[in-house]
Amino acid sequence: MTESWVNSAERIGADLHLELSGPGGRRAALIRALREAVRGGRLAPGTRLPPYRSLAADLGVARNTVADAYAELVAEGWLTARQGSGTRVAERAEPLRHAARVPVKAPPRARGPRHDLRQGRPDASAFPRAAWAASYRRALQAAPNEAFGPGDPAGRRELREALTEYLARARGVRTEPDRIVICSGFAHALRLLFGQDGGGVLHGPLGVEAYGLGFHRGLLAAAGVRTVPLPLDEHGARVERLGRERAVLLTPAHQFPTGGPLHAERRSAVIDWARARGGVILEDDYDGEFRYDRKPVGAVQGLDPERVIHIGSVSKSLSPALRLGWMVLPERYVDAVLAAKGEREAWASVPDQLALADFVVSGSYDRHVRRMRQRYRRRRDRLVEALAAHAPHVEVTGIAAGLHAVLRLPPGTERSAVKAAAWQGVALDGLADFRHPQATDTAADTAAYDGLVVGYATPSEHAYGAALEALCAALPPG
Ligand SMILES: Cc1ncc(COP(=O)(O)O)c(C=O)c1O
Repeated sequence: MTESWVNSAERIGADLHLELSGPGGRRAALIRALREAVRGGRLAPGTRLPPYRSLAADLGVARNTVADAYAELVAEGWLTARQGSGTRVAERAEPLRHAARVPVKAPPRARGPRHDLRQGRPDASAFPRAAWAASYRRALQAAPNEAFGPGDPAGRRELREALTEYLARARGVRTEPDRIVICSGFAHALRLLFGQDGGGVLHGPLGVEAYGLGFHRGLLAAAGVRTVPLPLDEHGARVERLGRERAVLLTPAHQFPTGGPLHAERRSAVIDWARARGGVILEDDYDGEFRYDRKPVGAVQGLDPERVIHIGSVSKSLSPALRLGWMVLPERYVDAVLAAKGEREAWASVPDQLALADFVVSGSYDRHVRRMRQRYRRRRDRLVEALAAHAPHVEVTGIAAGLHAVLRLPPGTERSAVKAAAWQGVALDGLADFRHPQATDTAADTAAYDGLVVGYATPSEHAYGAALEALCAALPPG
């Protein structure tokens, strides 16, 4: 087999695309999926399979399940196992007679793209199952009976106390438990704050960054809130353009999606604007923990806790499936937000809140974030190295923090690059997908360029190398 810049264990990762579904449990599903991959030629003879441990981690199964599946396929003649050279696809992979008689149903078609480089998702295979389960168990054992009755709309005190300490230490947030309201993530916070048909705690017009998540703009539009785009330059949002807006929504630690921090002068300027105009700053701190090359950028909230609503969630740090987040509020908004939540907690599961409190207090959250920071930093470095080797004309930006980077492309090539990527099986977005429809870019606005937004956290470890290879193949020539 010819060697490429991606090692063989990674190459096979992309082709595996194992969907563990169908009858007979996970072991049987894994055997079926691997057998079909060999039989269909997706795993070429001689290909080395990932070690038990990596495949088990990627698929979220026990190591023994992978070991058993490999052993079964060795017995059937599809794989070979030799001391020192790992498990490989047999050179003439043919079933033993008894295996050939077993009818093998076609596996279900793999859903979605082959390589998922969309932004916004952490590596789902890295969810800390064991530590989370331990926190959950401890939390359930320690919880008083009343915890299983209707929940307080502010959220569990245990979690609010844990977050008060954590956010002060890790993000420079100044608050106390009574100013925190638990919610089910950033999107829920927006819904609570802006309500429906103008009936919320806050009102528009709302200043927003000219590039941001269309999903959030859609939520705001559905609530009848007019959003006014602020241009971006190399220092972040041009907050000096704020005028009659009553609130502004910013991603100060890591502009989403272009990737830079809001410059210190702009941070002070936006606080000055809020003080002078009675406005409020919504700080979306969606991935503040993931910083690599630069000094930590603390929360803007720390500059003036009475002018900033600081919003965070575990969607990037742990999993978007948990649906847990928090709002750190100026005192004047607490009652109104609680009223918007209603009499009882209707969104954020109380046992999950208690588990998260334990996860934070026990240090598991810090350990997980540290581990993921290292992993994502390595991935970011591999992305940069791959581009330097295969597409040196493509500049990578926004890489000092976060879970995604922006590749700056030659003018006029973004759409065709997104299409070429799709053709290579790579799902990702172009920068234009994030642009506010009323944004007026000028030459001075650094966001006014063609670019690809590459989420490097999404693929599991063994699939990442192949995803990078496919990405590089899709980039326009220099
Ligand atoms: C810009 C931005 N803000 C906030 C979030 C978090 O959203 P939520 O907490 O609703 O999952 C995300 C996605 O994780 C995001 O990309």
